Amino acid sequence: MKTDILFSPFTIKNHSFRNRIGVAPMTRMSAGADSIPRHDVLDFLIRRAERGAALVYTEAIVTDYESGQGYPGQARLTNQAQIDAWFAVVQAIHAHGAKAIMQMFHCGRMAWPEVNPAHRAIAPSAVSPSQNNPLTGFPYPRPEEMSHFDIDHVIQGFVETARGAVAAGFDGVEIHGAHGYLISQFLSSYSNKRHDEYGGSVENRFSFAREIIRAVRRVVPGDRLLLFRVSNWGVADREVSLFASQQEWQAMIALLDREELDALSLSTYRFSDLAFASGQNMAQLTRAVTSLPLLICGQIHDRATAEAALKNADLILSGKSLLLNPNWVEGVRDGKVMPLYSSDEANIAYTEEPLP
Ligand SMILES: Cc1cc2nc3c(=O)[nH]c(=O)nc-3n(C[C@H](O)[C@H](O)[C@H](O)COP(=O)(O)O)c2cc1C
Repeated sequence: MKTDILFSPFTIKNHSFRNRIGVAPMTRMSAGADSIPRHDVLDFLIRRAERGAALVYTEAIVTDYESGQGYPGQARLTNQAQIDAWFAVVQAIHAHGAKAIMQMFHCGRMAWPEVNPAHRAIAPSAVSPSQNNPLTGFPYPRPEEMSHFDIDHVIQGFVETARGAVAAGFDGVEIHGAHGYLISQFLSSYSNKRHDEYGGSVENRFSFAREIIRAVRRVVPGDRLLLFRVSNWGVADREVSLFASQQEWQAMIALLDREELDALSLSTYRFSDLAFASGQNMAQLTRAVTSLPLLICGQIHDRATAEAALKNADLILSGKSLLLNPNWVEGVRDGKVMPLYSSDEANIAYTEEPLP
C-alpha cells in the first residue's frame, strides 16, 4: 500500500508531529493595551489543533515596546499576564495533540510609529519602502539608521520574548527573518546600505540574524525547537526580489545551515513558482544547500498542491485556507475540491467577527 506522506508523522529532535500540516503564522491585530490577543483569536488557534493540524503558529509577536510594532493590536510576550494567557492556549493545543510555535518579529522600516509607545522607526539604513503603507495610505516614515546600541537592544527584545515563550510552554520559537521586516531588511541589499560589519557582503548582512539566533538559542533549551523563517519577497514593494541571485540566496541559506537551528520555514508567494531563472522552485534551491528540516508555505490549498509542495519539504503550512476553513485538514485528507482564497477574503482576519 502507498504511504500517505501527508498524514504520516514527522519528527524533529524530540518532537513528533502527527501529520505534515500546520497553521502558518497570522497576525490578527486584535490585542488591546495589554498586548494579549482577543479570546476568540486565541480560541481560533485551539480549534485548528482540535480539527487536526499538527502544529499551530502564533501571530508574529512584537519583541519590544519601542519600535518593533508595525500594526495596531499586535501581541507581546514578556510579562506574566501575557505568559499566563499563552500558557493556557499552549496547554489546550497540546491537549488536542498538536505542537505550538511562537513566532516573533520586529517590523523595522515597515513601521507605523504611532502604534509604538516610543514612536520610533528604525532600520539597517535610513531608506523607506517605495510604496505607501496600505493601512494608513501614507508613505512609511523614513527610519533612523540603527546604531550598535540599537542593535544590541533589539537583540535583547528577541531574547526576552523567547524567554516568555519558553515560560509559556511553547514547543518552539521562530525568528521571523522573512517578508521584508527588520531581519529581512538586514539580509537584503535592497534595504541594507550599511558600510559597517552589518552591511555589504552576504556574510556581513547575515551578522544581525546570526547574533539574534545565537542569543536566542542560549535561552531556548535543547528540548525546544528553534526555527527561522525566510523569504525572497517582502510585504511592501512585493515585486522586488530581495536576493539578487540564486547564488546569494543559497549563500544565505548555507549560513543559516551552520547555526544551531532545528528547521527553516520557507515562505513563498506560490510554492511552485520557479525562481532566479534557475528552472527550480525556492524549496528545491533551498534543499540543495541545507539538510535542515524544511517547512513550506504559499498557495497550498488542496490535496494536490499539498502533495506537490511536500515533494521538496517536510511540513506544509497554510495561511488563508486554515484561516477561512476550519475543516481544511479533513478536506485535504478526503481530497475535497477546495478554493484558493484571495487576500481580500483573508481580510476577515482583521475584523472583530469571530472566525469559524
Ligand atoms: C491574515 C494574515 C496574516 C499574516 N500574518 C503573518 C505573520 O504574522 N507572520 C508571518 O510570517 N506571515 C504572516 N502571514 C503570511 C502567512 O503566514 C503565509 O505565508 C501566507 O498567507 C501565504 O500562505 P497561504 O497562501 O497559505 O495563505 C499572514 C497572512 C495572512 C493571510
